[in-house]
Amino acid sequence: MTTERLVYLNDNYIQEHQATISVYDRGFLFADGVYEVIPVYEGQVLFLHEHLQRLQQNIDYLKIKYSINTSSWQTICNKLISSNGPDCPIYIQITRGCESTRNHDYGPNIKPTVVAYSLPPIKLGGSLNNSPIKVITLQDNRWNHCNIKSIALLGNILLRQEGKSVGAEEVLLVRENGCIVEGTTSNYFIVKDNVIKTPPLSNEILPGITRQIIIALCKKNNLRLIETNIDNEQLINSDEVWLSSSTKEIRSVGIVNDTIINNGKAGPVWQKVANLYIDNIKQLIHGK
Ligand SMILES: Cc1ncc(COP(=O)(O)O)c(C=O)c1O
Repeated sequence: MTTERLVYLNDNYIQEHQATISVYDRGFLFADGVYEVIPVYEGQVLFLHEHLQRLQQNIDYLKIKYSINTSSWQTICNKLISSNGPDCPIYIQITRGCESTRNHDYGPNIKPTVVAYSLPPIKLGGSLNNSPIKVITLQDNRWNHCNIKSIALLGNILLRQEGKSVGAEEVLLVRENGCIVEGTTSNYFIVKDNVIKTPPLSNEILPGITRQIIIALCKKNNLRLIETNIDNEQLINSDEVWLSSSTKEIRSVGIVNDTIINNGKAGPVWQKVANLYIDNIKQLIHGK
């Protein structure tokens, strides 16, 4: 028998089999909500402020009435971590809530549904030991608000599954103008002649927290990084390609479509930045 995990649901802590929501919840009916995934290592929640700030911006954008209190969320995260495991990232989902039936528009008194639970554990530095992965590129047919961490992920899901069907672990998305903006579940970076490049923030990409941390670490360590549009030509002619996300850390890419990058090996700039990223987390955890 597997042990039941604890779930936070609308101010209550309950066992997962009891954590149920209404069939009229607008998250279920319309994907009317937003989410966050926050990394947790050795019992400590990382970059909480940054994730909650993004969540509040997303909630405000959707005009959901919910105000985030950081210390309450620290308590919720701690409780889930101590019940469910010290290396399990926290998933938070906030939907607009439900009314008595299905209507596209909603009234002024609707109350949000707030859920948080633990995801399967991840190992700190796991990305350092993984061999470079294969990615493919596909036309980005998602909506025009990809900067919102919306639970409406059907576009991402279909594209990612198409990648999986040909053995690709991630799909990089190409806009109509030829710019490659991000992955279905990650941001990305390339390296050319020791210059690190990543697409700039816009409505076409999620402002990844890992991306933000990487940019800050590169600046602090005097590595050359520019935020600039990247097309297919630049991508396949780059010396290195990496992906970033809260659960992936920084993953090196060895194949893009049919092009082998850096002989299929992880590159030296990736090694440096991935080490900086993991060392930074270790410092945050151990307070050094
Ligand atoms: C589409 C997309 N882009 C980028 C990211 C990376 O964001 P973060 O670094 O905040 O995990 C994610 C993470 O889930 C994502 O879904």
